[in-house]
Amino acid sequence: MTTTAIRVAVNGYGVIGKRVADAVRLQPDMEFVGVGDIVSDYRVKAAVVLGLPVYASLPEKVDEMKGAGIPVPGTLDDLLAQVDVVVDCTPKGVGARNLDHYRAVGVKAIFQGGEKHSLTGHSFVAQANYETAVGRDATRVVSCNTTSTVRTLTALRDAGLLKKARGVLVRRATDPWESDHSGIMNTVVPEPHIPSHQGPDAQTVVPDLDVVTIAAKAAHTQTHNHFWVVELSRPASREEVLEAFRAASRIAFIRMSDGIVALNSTIELMRDLGRPRDDMWEVALWEDVLTVNGNEAYYTYQVCNEAIVVPETVDAIRALTGTVEDGQESIRITDEALGMRHDFLAW
Ligand SMILES: NC(=O)c1ccc[n+]([C@@H]2O[C@H](COP(=O)([O-])OP(=O)(O)OC[C@H]3O[C@@H](n4cnc5c(N)ncnc54)[C@H](O)[C@@H]3O)[C@@H](O)[C@H]2O)c1
Repeated sequence: MTTTAIRVAVNGYGVIGKRVADAVRLQPDMEFVGVGDIVSDYRVKAAVVLGLPVYASLPEKVDEMKGAGIPVPGTLDDLLAQVDVVVDCTPKGVGARNLDHYRAVGVKAIFQGGEKHSLTGHSFVAQANYETAVGRDATRVVSCNTTSTVRTLTALRDAGLLKKARGVLVRRATDPWESDHSGIMNTVVPEPHIPSHQGPDAQTVVPDLDVVTIAAKAAHTQTHNHFWVVELSRPASREEVLEAFRAASRIAFIRMSDGIVALNSTIELMRDLGRPRDDMWEVALWEDVLTVNGNEAYYTYQVCNEAIVVPETVDAIRALTGTVEDGQESIRITDEALGMRHDFLAW
């Protein structure tokens, strides 16, 4: 690890950006320099309260933001001039317009799952392909659903157990902060195409994964629920499959027998454990639901869409700058700084 801290900015201080900012501030080898955004409401004002410098990402927004009382020290270019890496957490499609500019000013850039793989030509999940991102000028951290898919399937693959996987994804309707004006109620909306985009997206990280996903949007606002049928490469015991998940980073077991019977139980558990914003960075896999029958495994897990990509983003920062070349070492540093767990109720 270098002795000079990696200087980081976040452009787009929304659901993902604010969590990335907090996570970067906890890393021993990073310095958080500031955020860029274009709005002046409570979300950005909260950043000021938390002591973060807030820059105007569009020059024409400076006056409006200053007029709302935000002490704007400058524009995005002023922020970019001070950093090694920018994490672009702007809404889907906006980030794509920023890449050329980041390149022009010589700042490495990380995008989020709303952008296409083709934007950077590299899609990132730390445990699967950290090393291929080392030294690149840009990468894309894949979406929440895709991150969980890659984490769990590569855990089985690395144990020599994966042949092919078929998954059904029940997605949240919208994020809590915007549920006053978006989201569905009292229905389930299947995606009109099979495979849903998450399966092919996982293959942008691990091209030879044999995976098909089917997805639907449901009427709740927090977290996704996945259901998987996996054909194993050979008949295996339940304990072998559990051990494969145990050996992987960023998968934590939960149990019905502990009273964790639904998505809301885990959210309450995160509150009880004092997690910031109730965030769960791990894939929460029901240990006592997992079933193995010969060469087939069946399991279900929960994905905290607001948080799961945050540790991956932190690792992507180290990969691009090349300060840590070993993915497992970066994962260790990130997970220790955040306080990630393999089992939420083990002591
Ligand atoms: N919300 C999720 O569950 C989730 C999960 C994984 C990945 N992602 C991806 O993360 C990215 C960000 O999503 P989000 O949910 O955090 O969005 P969000 O709407 O919560 O936040 C986006 C932020 O960007 C700001 N912004 C808009 N235009 C801007 C511009 N031109 N310059 C700077 N800032 C601008 C907005 O004001 C807002 O604060 C997307 O690619 C999304 O697909 C989202």
